[in-house]
Amino acid sequence: MALDRPTPNDLNAFWMPFTANRQFKKDPRMFVGAKDMHYTTSEGRQVLDGTAGLWCCNAGHCRPKITEAIAKQAGELDYAPAFQMGHPIAFELANRLIGIAPEGMEHVFYTNSGSESVETALKLAIGYHRARGEGARTRLIGRERGYHGVNFGGISVGGIVTNRKMFGTLLGGVDHMPHTHLPDLNSYTQGQPEHGANLADELERIVALHGAETIAAVIVEPVAGSTGVILPPKGYLQRLREITAKHGILLIFDEVITGFGRLGAPFAAQYFDVLPDMMCTAKGLTNGVIPMGAVMTTGAVHDAFMDGPEHMIELFHGYTYSGNPIASAAAIATLDTYREEGLFERGAEIAPYWQDALHSLRGARHVIDIRNLGLIGAVELEPIAGAPTKRAFSAFLKAYEAGILIRTTGDIIAMSPPLIIEKPQIDQLIGTLRGVLEALD
Ligand SMILES: Cc1ncc(COP(=O)(O)O)c(C=O)c1O
Repeated sequence: MALDRPTPNDLNAFWMPFTANRQFKKDPRMFVGAKDMHYTTSEGRQVLDGTAGLWCCNAGHCRPKITEAIAKQAGELDYAPAFQMGHPIAFELANRLIGIAPEGMEHVFYTNSGSESVETALKLAIGYHRARGEGARTRLIGRERGYHGVNFGGISVGGIVTNRKMFGTLLGGVDHMPHTHLPDLNSYTQGQPEHGANLADELERIVALHGAETIAAVIVEPVAGSTGVILPPKGYLQRLREITAKHGILLIFDEVITGFGRLGAPFAAQYFDVLPDMMCTAKGLTNGVIPMGAVMTTGAVHDAFMDGPEHMIELFHGYTYSGNPIASAAAIATLDTYREEGLFERGAEIAPYWQDALHSLRGARHVIDIRNLGLIGAVELEPIAGAPTKRAFSAFLKAYEAGILIRTTGDIIAMSPPLIIEKPQIDQLIGTLRGVLEALD
């Protein structure tokens, strides 16, 4: 295939994010095109996307409706100031989001990424209590192995040691619940694990330790993705909701990966039938095409701020690009694509096939656990003694050579294909992965 763009020949200047820079620059892997389920590499090879980019291209790649909407909006209204001015499309999008959100979510605050959605939600939580006269509620509770982006609030409540240990003391007043990964009890579980709902009771211990009157919010990923796919045991999220409500603590769901159909429902809150006080979103909001995030809140959270003289700004927070017109247009076109193609339902329909295919890897070389929910799947590998992460990284490189894109974190292979994936493509993904694992040291 003829390529109309040359491969850059100096890779030094770009300091790549979350990348083994030195390894990459010795042996680069470049994508130069994408369409539907596939990427095209700089050598002209097709690579099947097993990860929806980075859990974000839920409708697949270069979808016409989205690209057209972006081009049209860029020619019509490219930018409008986000502070003290508006433009209709951001309001339209907010209504569309509320329309698919669980009943009770009433307001939308725009950001540019998942990390910014998290920071926004944490600040809203503390501000909410202060606005109501409970200014002592400043503590934030996260969870071990949680991933909430890379900003200071997010890494403070997050629980991935490599993301935290280089960056000093982080936010004060943060505590962590235990994670819910129980390999001895729940290995090879298909769907939600049976064991571990009682881990939510650890929140009672934390509340007893600090006093409920000092705690603003608990933040969790309904399904933890970046840390290697950790699923909520049956009843766990319900229990967290009960305990937070009992103590007047806000519950924040970080839906950055679970939002927009990943579990076969618009949001995990609906899938699990648990209503949080706030939901952080990004990624699938624009199909990953334009950076955008959104925090959704209940009426109660929003209304607590709507006080004081009307000419005064109620919340001293926001971004230059909050509700950017082009991002808003991309998001509306994305929601149209999801709806017109019934992609959330499609995710739910194909999930059982995905589950069976994934679990057919049980017994394959190096595999010690497999877990799945919706169109998420994880295959955990036995680490090489003394060289953790190396085996999975080798799997990633070999998989890329063999024509599939997977993602690894630690020694876990995580997959989250676009919701348009077809059964033969699932077979190709899993079959290729099996071959890669068999050939691996
Ligand atoms: C649950 C969760 N929260 C936050 C983020 C951060 O999003 P971003 O990379 O857009 O800042 C991610 C990214 O993977 C995520 O999975």
